[in-house]
Amino acid sequence: MITFKDITKTYPDGTTAVNQFNLTIEKGEFMTLIGPSGCGKTTTMKMINRLIDPSKGTIYIDNKPVSEYAIHELRWNIGYVLQQIALFPHMTVQENIQVVPELLKWNKEKMRKRTDELLDMVGLDPAIFKKRYPDELSGGQQQRIGVIRALAANPDIVLMDEPFSSLDPISREQLQIDIFKLQTEIKKTIVFVTHDMDEALKMSDRICLMKEGRVIQCDSPQQLMKNPQDDFVEEFIGNRQSPWLKPIKEVMKRDINYFIKDRSGTNMDEKVPYYIMIDENQHLTGMFESHREVKNVVTIPAESTIEDAYKIIRSTNQSHFPVVGDNQKAVGVVTSQQLLHYFYQQEKEGASFL
Ligand SMILES: Nc1ncnc2c1ncn2[C@@H]1O[C@H](COP(=O)(O)OP(=O)(O)OP(=O)(O)O)[C@@H](O)[C@H]1O
Ligand SMILES: [Mg+2]
Repeated sequence: MITFKDITKTYPDGTTAVNQFNLTIEKGEFMTLIGPSGCGKTTTMKMINRLIDPSKGTIYIDNKPVSEYAIHELRWNIGYVLQQIALFPHMTVQENIQVVPELLKWNKEKMRKRTDELLDMVGLDPAIFKKRYPDELSGGQQQRIGVIRALAANPDIVLMDEPFSSLDPISREQLQIDIFKLQTEIKKTIVFVTHDMDEALKMSDRICLMKEGRVIQCDSPQQLMKNPQDDFVEEFIGNRQSPWLKPIKEVMKRDINYFIKDRSGTNMDEKVPYYIMIDENQHLTGMFESHREVKNVVTIPAESTIEDAYKIIRSTNQSHFPVVGDNQKAVGVVTSQQLLHYFYQQEKEGASFL
């Protein structure tokens, strides 16, 4: 757990980069700092591993002030991916990755295995890349080495300052997936800086939106989208919409004629999983599921969001839900399977349903 308590950082020239900053990052949490250029993200991050000391306030890791840790202990246990690529130019890729393991006196075999594993993870063939020097790599490849170097010694905390900025979209997505997996499987505490709101929404447990050295809003992606605190937050979120807030009308089945019967229960095709009954004005009068009449049919109002619909259906045994407008007029049907499929699709596209 990392705690910022009333942190202010004023540089010697008088610039206040971080101003009365308070934040607690839980163990295993993926926390993203985002905000306009110059709002203090890098400064905030560098105070965690004491590359910069605060002017006021205290930062704690697991309730112990960072100033009370031995500095090398702190640096070895905190992986750090710098905003600018900063590989050691006269060391090979392998030597770069092994800097911290060397300091921790890992044996050669363990280091070799770890290096190969990490290179594989970011799609760089160890046989080809291990012996290369940084200037023999592309910018994106150097950046990937920067990321895995921070992970090499399995630190509990990883700080990443715009680690994906010079990657093409495909490598970027691959590395996002790798980091995301790493965090969900191994539960590292990750403090991540990005300019890319989509990336932040996709990866974070919580997003801390900063402005002029202060926290403006710190919330889960869903909460930020649902309840932006002010215009600044709203502008940052742009027109992105939480998958929960999509209208049910966009997901429901509209073409329901085949499933409609106007007489109760006669001539039902065995293979049709459900029928809804309507009167001459299309108003719902009943429903059959697997040839059984459903008592007290649960319906979904046409104006519902996915979230509203989910709340309605999760408490019933029914699997098919008429969507109804005014006076119970049937306008469509939603099945629980359809909703599941929707969640699955959204998740595949990177949305999270927190
Ligand atoms: N060593 C320094 N001396 C004086 N001012 C500094 C120093 N380092 C940073 N600053 C100033 O502090 C403020 C915050 O800088 P910081 O690098 O933390 O911002 P950032 O949010 O990381 O920005 P970016 O998104 O551009 O990386 C800026 O106004 C910057 O000019
Ligand atoms: Mg920065």
